[in-house]
Amino acid sequence: MEMRTCGKSGIEISPMGIGCWSYGGGDYWGPQAQSDVTAVANAALDAGINFFDTAEGYNNGRSEEALAVALKDRRHEAIIGTKVSRPDPTTIREHCEASLQRLQTDYVDIYMIHWPDDEIAIEESMAELTRLQEDGLIRAIGVSNFGVEQLTAALNTGASIAVNQLCYNLLSRAIEPELLPLCREQNVGILGYMPLLQGILTGQYKSADEIPPVHSRFRHFRDDREQASHGEEGAEEEMFETLEAIREISEAEQIPMSRLAIAWAMARPGITCMLVGTRNINELTQNLHVIEYTPSADVIESLDTITAPLLEQMGANPDYFTGARIH
Ligand SMILES: NC(=O)c1ccc[n+]([C@@H]2O[C@H](COP(=O)([O-])OP(=O)(O)OC[C@H]3O[C@@H](n4cnc5c(N)ncnc54)[C@H](OP(=O)(O)O)[C@@H]3O)[C@@H](O)[C@H]2O)c1
Repeated sequence: MEMRTCGKSGIEISPMGIGCWSYGGGDYWGPQAQSDVTAVANAALDAGINFFDTAEGYNNGRSEEALAVALKDRRHEAIIGTKVSRPDPTTIREHCEASLQRLQTDYVDIYMIHWPDDEIAIEESMAELTRLQEDGLIRAIGVSNFGVEQLTAALNTGASIAVNQLCYNLLSRAIEPELLPLCREQNVGILGYMPLLQGILTGQYKSADEIPPVHSRFRHFRDDREQASHGEEGAEEEMFETLEAIREISEAEQIPMSRLAIAWAMARPGITCMLVGTRNINELTQNLHVIEYTPSADVIESLDTITAPLLEQMGANPDYFTGARIH
């Protein structure tokens, strides 16, 4: 499989990675059997997928633990990305050491700040991350959910930033106008998350009311949805119109909508890897077909065109959760 390099780090990863948020099981994604995690991780490695994305915050560390069990004797074949929740320079090291313990490893390949924190001086966070890198606890420094101003400030500290992890899918294209070009210009790789908008881009839902509350809290939905906290009107009608148009293209291509959605995102210049939350072997098998499918220039153009009105309506704010944390 073609590998892609994460910015200036020299670390090479597959264009599709395994999103491990559900691993370990918890309130958000429900139960998750270790046998499924182990089967997915091994089959992914066998197929040439080498990147696994987790975080200390996923299920209180159980995602990292479940990934460690799954990778057991094959840790050296994997590139592991994990994240520190708070970039507090006085506690990053202990959080990193706790992640290493849960991951049963002595190094993290890419260690990311999960969300920016405007209350904490980025110079101090980056200095501490650089020390962790010098001490060999981490191979590369990454950030996640950093907007144009936040990424610029982080880069201005002089730290070498390998990747920025950002939400990117057919219904969430906010990074395209400014953030994606900045990352390309600065040679910061992009790890795109939620390529299926948590299952919505599989086409399984006919209306917003069918979508479980945890997956209908994004800015696409009305703020009065149970778990939404963004204070916006949403764009539910437009989102379902767009989904219908995407469905027509996937039918014409004779492939599932999920495959089209992942392939479209993977094909965008500047995207290093798309992280797909993969819960079992059936989903992995389906998603691996993406590797054999490259959308034509016409298909990409059609998808760009039919999703453009939603992009315009929702604007260039890449925080699809609360709308307030990325700038
Ligand atoms: N940095 C951040 O702030 C951030 C935020 C969000 C996510 N992430 C990362 O990105 C990863 C991916 O995002 P995500 O898991 O939230 O969303 P996603 O990848 O858009 O959706 C994943 C969900 O889609 C369903 N799915 C996957 N493949 C499928 C297939 N072939 N057919 C039908 N359904 C399928 C599965 O749900 P069911 O089996 O339950 O239906 C799966 O859990 C996460 O695991 C995490 O590592 C990072």
